[in-house]
Amino acid sequence: MTDSHFLYNKFIFDYNSIYMQKFKASITGVAGYVPDYILTNQELERLVATNDEWITSRTGIKTRHILKGENMGSSHMGVKAVQILLEKTNTNPMDVDLVICATTTPDFVFPATANLIAAEIGAFNAFSYDMQAACSGFLYAMWAGTQFIQAGTYKKVIVVGADKMSSIIDYTDRATSIIFGDGAGAIMLEPSPDEDGIHDAFLRTDGRGWVHLHQKAGGSRRPPSLETVQNREHYVYQEGAVVFKHAVTGMAQAAEEILTRNNLKGSEVDWLVPHQANKRIIEATAQKMELAPEKVMLTIDRYGNTTNATLPLCLRDYESQLKKGQKLVFAAFGGGFTWGAIYATWAYNG
Ligand code: UT7
Repeated sequence: MTDSHFLYNKFIFDYNSIYMQKFKASITGVAGYVPDYILTNQELERLVATNDEWITSRTGIKTRHILKGENMGSSHMGVKAVQILLEKTNTNPMDVDLVICATTTPDFVFPATANLIAAEIGAFNAFSYDMQAACSGFLYAMWAGTQFIQAGTYKKVIVVGADKMSSIIDYTDRATSIIFGDGAGAIMLEPSPDEDGIHDAFLRTDGRGWVHLHQKAGGSRRPPSLETVQNREHYVYQEGAVVFKHAVTGMAQAAEEILTRNNLKGSEVDWLVPHQANKRIIEATAQKMELAPEKVMLTIDRYGNTTNATLPLCLRDYESQLKKGQKLVFAAFGGGFTWGAIYATWAYNG
């Protein structure tokens, strides 16, 4: 090897090791909020032609929380989650650099729900924006926030997932009304002092899947009109069985890819943090990864599918069991189609 080759290689090595050590992003706090009202399977039995046995065996859902009351959107729950996060992490809101809100049910078409949350929590030194990727939104937002920390641009990034799914659910449709719930969750991302943190992401979209899962009206293609309201086009439209098949394949592919890229065997993973759309999809993903059931975070029984809040609510509910250095694989699939997985090692003892 010539001197110049040696120097060049040494430079790359030093640069990589400094870069990796200095700017690894880690999750330094988690928080969540679900509204008080609990919608049970028994109450749904009175609204649509369904029953507790069908819902439980096909989805794993028993209850979901619903935000009741006038003039309260997703930001209401996002603010609550972030306020708890600030308190838990002892963070002054004026020190927050960026707030990213993953939501599919924004308070308004504009401005962004993240703008409303940042204002309400008093983060006036921050900029903020929304991420829209349906049920994979939190995964995408977490990876976006990670980039700002890794690049050394910012030191405190809040990623919040908040959805008032009840605002776009038709409670006369048994196919969708049984699945979704409302909630919010948030994480703090900061530079890691060591090697623990967010390591890798595998993210994909296939926009051809839009036809199978979308809201037909309310956007620029079909603005709201008397006709769209009368046709019930402002609700979630889902071809359940088609989405189910793609979700099983997509989550498994993403999880497998992230394991292979990081030289990991399924047995080495401590926790699967899966999007909570259907217990059977989660079990299929865990099976593909050869993961024992006790390593899989499950909250779907009590919250249903809260879209962008499922992943942070899992972290919130399992936080006390998490140990520093444990290996976590996040995985999600949603409308778009969007899907992916993130590999992280946990940064603190819960
Ligand atoms: O998070 C975003 C991504 N979304 C997902 O990942 C959701 C993926 N899909 C699913 O989770 C499932 O497809 C559902 C839970 C939505 C539906 O379960 P399924 O096992 O795929 O049921 P299906 O749609 O194939 O319907 C089977 C039967 C049908 O009756 P017939 O045609 O066989 O007589 C439905 O009409 O079940 C009927 N059905 C119900 N029965 C009682 C559908 N919904 C209900 C219900 N109660 N709520």
